[in-house]
Amino acid sequence: MPRIDINAQVLAQTSPTKDIFLLSVSAPEIARPAQPGQFCMLDAVEEDNLHDPLLRRPLSIHNVTADGVVEFLYRKTGRGTGLLSRLKPGRKLKILGPLGNGFRWDNSKSCILVGGGMGIAPLLFLAAALHKAGNPPAIILGAATESDLVRIDLFRTRAMEQGFFTATEDGSLGHHGLVTEVLLSLFDHQAHQAGEADTVVLTCGPFPMMRAVAAICREREIPCQVSLEAHMACGSGLCLGCAVESAHNADYIHVCREGPVVDAIKVKW
Ligand SMILES: Cc1cc2nc3c(=O)[nH]c(=O)nc-3n(C[C@H](O)[C@H](O)[C@H](O)COP(=O)(O)OP(=O)(O)OC[C@H]3O[C@@H](n4cnc5c(N)ncnc54)[C@H](O)[C@@H]3O)c2cc1C
Ligand code: FES
Repeated sequence: MPRIDINAQVLAQTSPTKDIFLLSVSAPEIARPAQPGQFCMLDAVEEDNLHDPLLRRPLSIHNVTADGVVEFLYRKTGRGTGLLSRLKPGRKLKILGPLGNGFRWDNSKSCILVGGGMGIAPLLFLAAALHKAGNPPAIILGAATESDLVRIDLFRTRAMEQGFFTATEDGSLGHHGLVTEVLLSLFDHQAHQAGEADTVVLTCGPFPMMRAVAAICREREIPCQVSLEAHMACGSGLCLGCAVESAHNADYIHVCREGPVVDAIKVKW
């Protein structure tokens, strides 16, 4: 698996909302091998003498373009993402990637993507890959409120016909409630059409949301993959700091090495 550590140039940074940012960098070396669901470690500190590995932060690859642009969609939450959010076009930043294992799918099966909060970030690249392969997915995106659901027009164009849904907790856009309620009604609809057996669910979002999605899938024996989050220092399997409890034998999943995308049945929920 190629892993590249480069100084990449910022091409653009926009802010669809007060605390959500879209960062575009020129990184053809990373764009070429990147797979949907993989991530990079980003370090906003440009100068070598200020290099601070503790400030590298993991972000999913949101999208890549044919001309080598890599996009990241992130919420400013603390120091690392705060520094990233101040980067202007022309500045350089250190990027290590693409890292980890992404989503796996088979184009003979229909895919349902379920994203919650900033968990929508890796799903655009995934939706684009599925769409390009002639297998456009059903997409369900949820958030607390409408303004958190960014770039939904792009998602909509990559979804199957009549297969794009939103849910907001305050009812400001789409279904008033949770993504899991939309997923259940989609399954009910599919069951009528006997399509459920050939379905796979691919999800990223807050842990409780993914736990609920995984439980629904387990009940129906539908394969489900989840993209896990953990605090990360090295991103390379060295520090063992990104452990999440595994469902098997009191073992651990190291998210940067075995994930971030794993089969839902492997996780201790
Ligand atoms: C594989 C992976 C992919 C990710 N992709 C994205 C993405 O595409 N977009 C995005 O917005 N965020 C993503 N994250 C989360 C992102 O890495 C954290 O929000 C970021 O590292 C916070 O750094 P900070 O220095 O700004 O905040 P800190 O000052 O380090 O922390 C601020 C707050 O965020 C919490 N936090 C920090 N790191 C994480 C983490 N890894 N998971 C959950 N909570 C955390 C802290 O507990 C604290 O409450 C991803 C995380 C992982 C592991
Ligand atoms: S972050 Fe160091 S082992 Fe995963």
